[in-house]
Amino acid sequence: MKRSVFVIITLLMAITMQAQELKMIKLNAPNKTKGEAVMKVLNDRQSIREYAAKELAAQDLSDLLWAANGINRPDGKRTAPSAMNRQEVDVYVVMKTGAYLYDAKEHALKPVTAGDYRAAVAGPQDFAKEAPVSLVLVADLARLGDPASDRTKLMASVDVGIVCQNINLACTGLGLATVPRATMDQDVLRKALKLNDNQLLLMNNPVGYPQ
Ligand SMILES: Cc1cc2nc3c(=O)[nH]c(=O)nc-3n(C[C@H](O)[C@H](O)[C@H](O)COP(=O)(O)O)c2cc1C
Repeated sequence: MKRSVFVIITLLMAITMQAQELKMIKLNAPNKTKGEAVMKVLNDRQSIREYAAKELAAQDLSDLLWAANGINRPDGKRTAPSAMNRQEVDVYVVMKTGAYLYDAKEHALKPVTAGDYRAAVAGPQDFAKEAPVSLVLVADLARLGDPASDRTKLMASVDVGIVCQNINLACTGLGLATVPRATMDQDVLRKALKLNDNQLLLMNNPVGYPQ
């Protein structure tokens, strides 16, 4: 009995320490001159569900996050438009080491939870677990308006769709593979990302290199 209590306490300590060890990741400056021209990107965009067994390069992750919803003007506005410029869409980055929140102002990743939650992003679609990175799109309804209103939810869904398409197009232009997905294990992911009741977990994009 004493021994099992000791084992449980040791395990809990190990998990807590692991969570504390995740550090903020400052991203490289985005390379804003990279990528294919817009008409070629629109011509080539497609959903890709197979990924090479290769980690995403730091520069590619930086460029992709900036394209997804980074700041593109001195007044703090974003690459993605949002209803009333409420900027309520957050991009979470789920990787082998842990889950992070993209901080557009700092162009950095803030630690959220240690551990590999890519299986929760994948849900029943196993292929998605193989992507080295998944971007998870969450709308904070409280930042947009009355969280209970259908209109707020509708506008938030539109805004998430725009960020998602930024990701789809950026991936094509940068030579990355992705698919926009609504499928995921909502319960596990909501807990891992520490979401509150006003945060809608709407879409995700597994991202990797094409095979
Ligand atoms: C809102 C939305 C949700 C989607 N959810 C999933 C999903 O859960 N799993 C998946 O494999 N593909 C998903 N897709 C991708 C579509 O199946 C795909 O875009 C469609 O088949 C057209 O193929 P294309 O993207 O190559 O043009 C979703 C697409 C959208 C726009």
